[in-house]
Amino acid sequence: MKLLVTGGCGFIGANFIRYYVKKHRSCAILNVDKLTYAGNLQNLEGMEERKNYRFVRADITNAAQMRQAFRRFRPDAVVNFAAESFVDRSIAAPAAFLKTNFLGVGVLLNCALEYGATRFLQVSTDEVYGSILKGKFHERSVIDPSSPYSASKAAADGLVMAFHRTYGLPVLITRSSNNYGPYQFPEKLIPLIISNALNHQKIPVYGDGLHVRDWLYVGDNCRAIDLVLHKGRTGEIYNIGAQYERTNLYVVEKILRILNKPLGLIEHVKDRPGHDRRYAVSITKIKKQLGWQPSVSFEAGLSKTIDWYEHNRSWIENTRTGAYRSFYRKYYSGLGLKNF
Ligand code: NAD
Ligand code: TYD
Repeated sequence: MKLLVTGGCGFIGANFIRYYVKKHRSCAILNVDKLTYAGNLQNLEGMEERKNYRFVRADITNAAQMRQAFRRFRPDAVVNFAAESFVDRSIAAPAAFLKTNFLGVGVLLNCALEYGATRFLQVSTDEVYGSILKGKFHERSVIDPSSPYSASKAAADGLVMAFHRTYGLPVLITRSSNNYGPYQFPEKLIPLIISNALNHQKIPVYGDGLHVRDWLYVGDNCRAIDLVLHKGRTGEIYNIGAQYERTNLYVVEKILRILNKPLGLIEHVKDRPGHDRRYAVSITKIKKQLGWQPSVSFEAGLSKTIDWYEHNRSWIENTRTGAYRSFYRKYYSGLGLKNF
């Protein structure tokens, strides 16, 4: 099989490619990534030595570049990870989110149709459902996104389904909860806590810190995406979650204790506008249809993650470039966090 992966140099994409090449040794992979601030070739170090792996730097919103990649590679299947993925950045500057997360998906869908891909898997998010205080969202729940990020992902889901209904494109959608693990850019909560704590920097907690997320180890998500890609029913959506819900404060305190750092590093800052209080998805469908369930406990996943960041401090430093620092200096001073 020939698999075109987009956004493979980002966090989940890189973990997925590493997982996939071990599991499906004869499969050829083309990784198409624009290498935004979040894309990092180091995430796939060693991969270029494999005969059946290739990387092309290209932008999914560029139709000419995508058509060339599809025409040359002729993929059987496509998995789209490429996205602008950080809620706070989407609040500060939404345009790139609409472009990549919606228009880019449109370009990929057109190419998949034109070049006859037989599976198109869109990696979406549980954030499209919005916040839920009690109970859990299932795949038929109404979507009600709160941020420009989640709205752009929700719009893309609509387009993906439209290509299925209108043109018969064999699509699949996964909607997972918050992932954590190695190679995650240290702007998202868990790698930010670890990286800042290792550097004795403050950890900004938005609002009261009692917002709840369901923490999924990235390896479990990769296994689920692989299953959906190969065994999922086309035209269907699959929720993926760990069923491990914790408040942000719980997670921050837990990591600080493991690292033996003072809780005084925590600094409550202004809340995120439109901040979703709780995400929770039912995973009954993927369990029943595909036999998937999470296998890595939070304790085990966190320990692997912390270990990885502790041993890859130069990777952390390489992500914290001049552009990153100037964004955060401005962003954090807006939140009232001075000591960054
Ligand atoms: P990430 O930000 O770490 O990586 C995104 C990758 O996409 C980067 O390598 C970047 O260079 C690439 N990219 C961005 N714009 C591009 C463009 N126009 N053309 C080509 N490549 C482009 O994101 P992630 O956390 O790995 O998330 C991957 C996918 O999973 C996203 O679609 C995201 O919405 C979804 N998702 C993430 C989470 C999570 O917890 N991280 C949870 C649910 C769903
Ligand atoms: P994040 O990792 O950005 O994921 P998402 O917003 O997509 O769920 O944030 C996870 C939670 O942590 C969310 O409730 C916002 C909160 N948060 C903080 O309190 N401080 C921070 O510095 C960040 C990045 C997030």
